[in-house]
Amino acid sequence: MTVLRLEDLKQYSDTLRTRHGEALNVRFVEPRDTEELQHYVRSLTTRSRYNRFFGAISELPKGLLGEFLDVGARERFTVVVTKLVDGFETIVAEARYAFHAETATLEFGLSVDDRWQGHGIATALVKNLECRAAALGAEHLAGDTLRSNQTMISLARKSGFAFVNHPDDWKLVRFDKGISVSPTDIPCASSHLAALSRQVAGASVVL
Ligand SMILES: CC(C)(COP(=O)(O)OP(=O)(O)OC[C@H]1O[C@@H](n2cnc3c(N)ncnc32)[C@H](O)[C@@H]1OP(=O)(O)O)[C@@H](O)C(=O)NCCC(=O)NCCS
Repeated sequence: MTVLRLEDLKQYSDTLRTRHGEALNVRFVEPRDTEELQHYVRSLTTRSRYNRFFGAISELPKGLLGEFLDVGARERFTVVVTKLVDGFETIVAEARYAFHAETATLEFGLSVDDRWQGHGIATALVKNLECRAAALGAEHLAGDTLRSNQTMISLARKSGFAFVNHPDDWKLVRFDKGISVSPTDIPCASSHLAALSRQVAGASVVL
């Protein structure tokens, strides 16, 4: 597995494009985002929050907020997608992912601000996550969604995922796809940095 340099999270930032070509920034969440992240979650519609967190919450409970901000702890990571609105860097989407080394699977959940849904942001974010997953050494990308969440199911289907019943919860469906592309096919900073660290590791073996 590739080791991330958590002391310099900014280097893992990428540009995403909406369906209409607008550029957005995707980067690991930082402590300075605490208020903005809570504001983002509070601003989601009740339905979007329920679909994202599988329960009725109005904001991130303190413990969960702490976990969201603790990038890299227990191989779990949070990225935010941001856009400048009136000069302020505003969160318009987020994703949280966990790397399970034992199954070489990257599991994720995500949401997009209701005002920004339907612009292709989630589609672009899933592609970016696939690149990040490949850079970490994952062979599968997977997630769970409520069986009633037709939007997520449709997005996952269009993004090439297959579906299976969730082993423990009948209300959930699991989507999964094998990562067949090399990270260089869908570039992200993580893939360049992973390639670089492999070169350095290779060089030190030769020397
Ligand atoms: C699911 C979600 C992430 C999709 O985000 P998005 O940025 O709007 O998705 P995209 O614009 O990339 O759309 C991708 C596909 O999703 C489907 N989709 C998007 N909006 C839809 C809607 N309102 N109704 C039905 N399908 C929809 C379509 O198949 C769409 O492809 P198309 O535009 O080519 O038809 C977003 O609706 C969301 O944040 N929902 C609340 C949280 C959630 O459900 N998270 C999933 C838990 S894992």
